[in-house]
Amino acid sequence: MFDEKIVADLRGRDYIETKDWSDAEIDLALDLAADLKFKFHNGIPHRLLPDKTIFLLFFDKSTRTRNSFEAGATQLGAHAHFIDAETSQLSHGESPRDMGVILSSYGHAIAIRHDLEPGKGNTLMREVAHYSSRPVLNMQCDIDHPFQTLADLMTIRERFGHNLRGLKIAVSWAYAPSYAKPMSVPQGLIMLMTRFGLDVTLAHPPEWKLMKSTMKIAEQNARQHGTKFGIVDNMEDAFRDADIVYPKSWGIEELFSRPQEALELSRRHKDWICDRKLMKLTKKHSIYMHCLPADRGNEVTNDVIDGSHSVIYQEAENRLHTCKSIMALTMS
Ligand code: CP
Repeated sequence: MFDEKIVADLRGRDYIETKDWSDAEIDLALDLAADLKFKFHNGIPHRLLPDKTIFLLFFDKSTRTRNSFEAGATQLGAHAHFIDAETSQLSHGESPRDMGVILSSYGHAIAIRHDLEPGKGNTLMREVAHYSSRPVLNMQCDIDHPFQTLADLMTIRERFGHNLRGLKIAVSWAYAPSYAKPMSVPQGLIMLMTRFGLDVTLAHPPEWKLMKSTMKIAEQNARQHGTKFGIVDNMEDAFRDADIVYPKSWGIEELFSRPQEALELSRRHKDWICDRKLMKLTKKHSIYMHCLPADRGNEVTNDVIDGSHSVIYQEAENRLHTCKSIMALTMS
């Protein structure tokens, strides 16, 4: 059922950014995720990783990511070992090299979340990966959130089918007072969706620019794959005739070390909220997506996030199946 050459190539591979995997490899990961979802729903055992260990190293909080990895590892017959970066020797300055060499000698993969400091997380993961003899998996960094966007692509395909050509996704900034959220979800979305047939419209107020490197990749992908990538400065233009809307907050690259300044600035844009009026501009069959957690009443109104367009719970569930697929492919 699965291409054996691709499966063999993925064994032992890192999954740090979706761009590190070919289209065929992403397709295979999604096919396996669908198979694992079917097995999970039907109580069919799928212990593909008996007696394996994965280390989960967190520099930031999590609900979905931690629990999809822990539950997913158990369901695959493996064990997920949680490490709080604050209580590990990393907080005393232990090097990523020592971390990579030592943890990979104890188990079969190292997964890392380090997403709140632009310029830090991805660099650390790549350094750990350089010294690790086992795969390194990115549970969200400053650049990409490859497990989230893979689950998002799975959710979009479940709704619209495999061929997404001509469909429009609006990736929009939205107001949130809770904290300066990482930039990696919108960046991951513009980089991945332009590869898989979707026309992407990015919307944000001028200060909330995404990293130049990720914009360049999205532009290149759109050229290579015959999709569209456009930028607007208001939600209305992004939402008009959209098939998929993904409004969420993110921080300002230069202000992550001064989050209060970013939050202060963002208060000028409280009208960037996804509400029923905006959803009326989208196609009738459109879906509302959010990686969660959402700032209800700020990023989105309750009637939209709990309404008929919303696929947030399907999207969150797919984090489990895509996570299991990547672990099974890279750790076996
Ligand atoms: N979407 C997501 O990554 O959720 P958590 O921050 O709860 O892991």
